Amino acid sequence: MICLYTMPGNAPTAGALAAHLDGDYAVRCEPVSVHAFPDGESMVQLPPPAPDTEAVLVCTLDRPDTKTVPLLAAAATLRELGARRVGLVAPYLAYMRQDKRFAPGQAVSARSYAALLSAHFDWLVTVDPHLHRIKQLSEVYALQSRVVHAAPYLAEWIKAHVPRPLIIGPDDESEQWARDVAARINAPVLVLRKQRFGDTDVRVTVPELGHYPEHTPVLLDDIISSGRTLVGALEHLREAHSVPAVCVAVHGLLAGDAMAQIRAAGAAQIVCSTSVAHETALIDISAALAEGVRELVAPRVTEVTA
Ligand code: R5P
Repeated sequence: MICLYTMPGNAPTAGALAAHLDGDYAVRCEPVSVHAFPDGESMVQLPPPAPDTEAVLVCTLDRPDTKTVPLLAAAATLRELGARRVGLVAPYLAYMRQDKRFAPGQAVSARSYAALLSAHFDWLVTVDPHLHRIKQLSEVYALQSRVVHAAPYLAEWIKAHVPRPLIIGPDDESEQWARDVAARINAPVLVLRKQRFGDTDVRVTVPELGHYPEHTPVLLDDIISSGRTLVGALEHLREAHSVPAVCVAVHGLLAGDAMAQIRAAGAAQIVCSTSVAHETALIDISAALAEGVRELVAPRVTEVTA
């Protein structure tokens, strides 16, 4: 039996995941309730697991600072109450961009956050974590992990909705996603150069677009956070008199006024995967999550008889 314990805000993801797994496994979804006390602490409560249950917490980890303490409390509670193993499905995995001490005394949060999750879970499934200076999750995570990829789903969406796409990665960190998606749909690809001077101060340079006058630019990144990377790229595209660009990302964190800024900079559309709940989350990646879960749920048994 797999029980998908659903942290607040994750019911659509858990439901879609259950639909993919159902038929291969006996699957149940149970909500985890999180009551916020006036002093900022929280009370976590969940239905106790049946004996021999593989418990899976479903919790995407955007805005992680408020989500993580209840998540860890839920994982510890499941173990105390007898869950055989406790897994985590986190479509967005937080803190992966803080993968280096950029200035003296800074925390390398990718490592400390990984240590926290690794102490509470047996396994983890996530979608396209920001692997840049850290090349594999196993460099920092001491648990079984599966990384699944949004590229096939992003590519399918672009192919269906964008005429003659020109895929543009706004910086070298986005290059792996841009090239992968472009290759899947036989589209041309450009990668821009970015310099970041602060949280919201980003400058982007765009190479010659003149080779692709008939194409629709698709700015493709793994994460949209403040949106300033895309704004920088959109402003240059506008100066180059390009047709309005479509912005596509794996993880739409879209902090603060990101949406307004990206629209004001001339985006024709902003579309992200369902890894983070948002009005732009139109590209369903639950099938990929289910593949990851299938690989990690152990032992692999078919629990449904014909
Ligand atoms: C980092 O290099 C990532 O690939 C994204 O480009 C970045 O996280 C986007 O951040 P923002 O939206 O704040 O510019």
